[in-house]
Amino acid sequence: MKRIAVFCSGGGSNLQALIDAAAGGRLNGQIALVLANKRSAYALERARLAGIPAKFISKKNAGSVEAFDALTYEELRSNGIDVIVTAGYLQILGEKTLKAYRENIINIHPALLPSFGGMGMYGHHVHEAVLESGARVSGATVHYVTGEVDGGPIILQRAVDVLQDDTPDTLAARVLSVEHQLLPAAVALHCAGRLSIRGKRVMVL
Ligand code: GRF
Repeated sequence: MKRIAVFCSGGGSNLQALIDAAAGGRLNGQIALVLANKRSAYALERARLAGIPAKFISKKNAGSVEAFDALTYEELRSNGIDVIVTAGYLQILGEKTLKAYRENIINIHPALLPSFGGMGMYGHHVHEAVLESGARVSGATVHYVTGEVDGGPIILQRAVDVLQDDTPDTLAARVLSVEHQLLPAAVALHCAGRLSIRGKRVMVL
């Protein structure tokens, strides 16, 4: 059974979707650790309520990127983690962690990458940019994490309509409900060994 660490910065609704999928035997893995870089992240409370070990580790608190990376890596190793899922996580991972978990780090992004991704494209900024662009569809993307922000091979995507009267909040809510289905599905495929990365493409076996 793969051991999964989920990294969060905020409310952790995607973490909750993963917890619920694991409880229903639909994840092919167990969530063995939750790490948050904000002490106030409700994701930490969700972990506590689910009996999952949870820890606050932040670059600010660690004092440097290198120290943050070393602390993160140590926590992952001591918990025997196989897979990292970044879900509403606003910190770039350190080199040591990225290298050690290459092709085993999965992220959820609230838009249809490669559009509306990259530095600064997180949370409401994404939905504001989508509405501003006049796009008629948006959606969610689950992808592997590489050194390039939001640039890793795409695992799953699903589109949602952008409605005439959408606000960033209404669009965010519609995309979020898709995220809650897409992320567990992608993690389950990965943990079952059914994903094969070929260049920028991911084949589902
Ligand atoms: C979600 O839109 C996710 O795609 C983005 O962060 C938002 C909050 O996620 N990365 P959560 O409720 O904290 O899981």
